[in-house]
Amino acid sequence: MRTSLRVNGRTREVEVEPRMTLLDALRDKCGLKGTHAGCEHGVCGACTVLVDGEAVRSCLMFAVQCDDMEITTVEGMAPEEGELGMIQDSFCETHGLQCGYCTPGMVIAARALLEKNDEPTDHDIREAISGNICRCTGYGQIVEAIRLAAKRLRESNVARSPEAAR
Ligand code: FES
Ligand code: FES
Repeated sequence: MRTSLRVNGRTREVEVEPRMTLLDALRDKCGLKGTHAGCEHGVCGACTVLVDGEAVRSCLMFAVQCDDMEITTVEGMAPEEGELGMIQDSFCETHGLQCGYCTPGMVIAARALLEKNDEPTDHDIREAISGNICRCTGYGQIVEAIRLAAKRLRESNVARSPEAAR
């Protein structure tokens, strides 16, 4: 089937099997390998992307379901290729990652949270990432990263802008 995927502001016409997941379409048809495949059955959150602003598990959606919806992957977090967005930079600064496998999903979950709540409590942050498994960090530094990103967003004075939340 021919499907139109709008990813990170760019429309891509792709040929997919009806059973192809959004995760596989992003990685194999769009070449966007930043979205990671972990469990591939909805448990780990490594494959999290935004679809029409909501954080979803791309391993649990079919690509054809997303025809003409707005998809954002971790590649869409950076202002330019080779640069880091504010949330990614906060993860680096607080050592919010080790192996990095969960990180794209964590960054997307953080973005989804901060777009709705620019002053999250630690409880809000933990709840927002509760569907994302990290084997390495013990979560403390991830919470710190998202807290720092929220502070930077507020200080940037454009906290509600989707651009600012990158
Ligand atoms: S790969 Fe989708 S939830 Fe684990
Ligand atoms: S940094 Fe390794 S799984 Fe989270």
